[in-house]
Amino acid sequence: LDHKRRAFANIPPGPTPWPVVGNFGGYFIPSFIQKRFGQGSVREMKTAMDILTKLAEHHGNVYSLFVGNQLLVVLNGFDVVKDALSNHPEVFSDRPEIPAVTILTKRKGIVFAPYGPIWRRQRKFCHTTLRNFGLGKLSMEPCILKGLGTIKTELLRLNEESTGAGVDLAPLISNAVSNVICSLILGQRFHHEDHEFCTLLGLMARGLEICVNSPALLINIFPLLYHLPFGVFKELKQVERDITVFLKRIIAKHRETLDPGNPRDLADMYFVEILEQQAAGEVGSSFTEDYLFYIIGDLFIAGTDTTTNSILWILLYMVLYPDIQDRVQAEIDDVVGRHRVPSLSDKGSLPFTEATIMEVQRLTVVVPLGIPHMASETTEFRGYTIPKGTVIVPNLWSVHRDPTLWDDPDTFNPSRFLDNEGKLLRKECFIPFGIGRRVCMGEQLAKMELFLTITSLLHAFKFRVPEGTPTPPLLGRFGLTLAPCPYTVCVSTRG
Ligand code: HEM
Repeated sequence: LDHKRRAFANIPPGPTPWPVVGNFGGYFIPSFIQKRFGQGSVREMKTAMDILTKLAEHHGNVYSLFVGNQLLVVLNGFDVVKDALSNHPEVFSDRPEIPAVTILTKRKGIVFAPYGPIWRRQRKFCHTTLRNFGLGKLSMEPCILKGLGTIKTELLRLNEESTGAGVDLAPLISNAVSNVICSLILGQRFHHEDHEFCTLLGLMARGLEICVNSPALLINIFPLLYHLPFGVFKELKQVERDITVFLKRIIAKHRETLDPGNPRDLADMYFVEILEQQAAGEVGSSFTEDYLFYIIGDLFIAGTDTTTNSILWILLYMVLYPDIQDRVQAEIDDVVGRHRVPSLSDKGSLPFTEATIMEVQRLTVVVPLGIPHMASETTEFRGYTIPKGTVIVPNLWSVHRDPTLWDDPDTFNPSRFLDNEGKLLRKECFIPFGIGRRVCMGEQLAKMELFLTITSLLHAFKFRVPEGTPTPPLLGRFGLTLAPCPYTVCVSTRG
């Protein structure tokens, strides 16, 4: 049944869609359906990535798929992704209206905001403000190191209590990462056992899980399902209400305690901006208390899961490749010594450590399909017509596994990022943060967090798989980001 494809003349080639569900039914059976049919509880994202990347071998680097009646164009390989997102930014920088996301975000904030002046102004304001609070600079270091101090103490305690079974690093890392965002945006850190904070993190995780991995996914094809008063649909609305109450309370507290001369964090700066715009008589500005709510939600969601999972992947690789862990530790010992903790100022002197972090990011690609873009007008691209409203999927996974760009792309080899003299090589085709106008806004912050967390933890501890437990797999779990399967580690302090 090729009627959908015929409805669009000269769109990129692709597999024939099924009636009603499009290609969604054939290739992307969600895990909640897989579970029903007994295919295991963990969906291995590698399979979905491999399917998408394999389709390019068949249909070319620009091919189309249908989800329901929605046309998707998947971009594969570095040349094509760069060509679309960097060389044609005016056409390919918009975001699609994904019904489930639109219901939750109202197309406000940054991540899912339509390309245009409001998005540009909000993004610029947030980026500049975060930079003023130390993003990408040494002044941010103490904030990150504080969380790492807590992790180290807790890690030792839990490790002792675990009597050999090992410690799950995920809650500790997620907590430290969330606290960095919290400090920047809301000026406050939460104790890792703070009930309210844990509840908020839990709600966000649950909300995401429902949106990407439950029958609520069907809202994207049949939006009215959102209003169903039972099951995950009801739970989703409750989660949304609880997060709203929590954040709105913190925002109101900021408004009430604001001292415009001494802004404490991004929320304060935002209120100052609102006041300045009001004083200047600006009418209809997008800077409102309501918009701030969506900005905060965005930064939390974009900045926590991604960074947490990247750190968890790197530590997992260190456990599975103890020889690389030894080399990283030897380099850190050489440069930093044993009498102080690693600092951002050591970055340039630790090329093997940096190469190792980058190599794990290359292989694991925590946002494997980027965040969907949309064609804002009908355009010709690489000989095909891309109609206005087409969802554009940049397959970052395919870029990082492209055998024409990377020797032996499936092999873990940090040295590929080093030249003959052991200096770090920057590669244009290494794009874990995306490319173009929508490139990750938190790239500098994330890089600081990855570097400081990995160097601090490997400086202090040796990590290994607990004895008698199976080797953790290197397969990812499907979610908003690609997460490693849960694993535990044993730690021992280094002299
Ligand atoms: C967008 C990756 C951490 C804030 C993105 C995109 C990717 C990405 C691939 C989509 C780019 C596109 O649409 O083409 C990552 C990775 C991270 C990370 C791998 C960690 C290792 C962070 C952090 C923050 C953040 C810490 C918060 C400060 C954002 C925002 C966007 C974004 C706001 C949306 C940009 C826009 O639509 O204009 N990120 N990110 N990210 N990221 Fe990150």
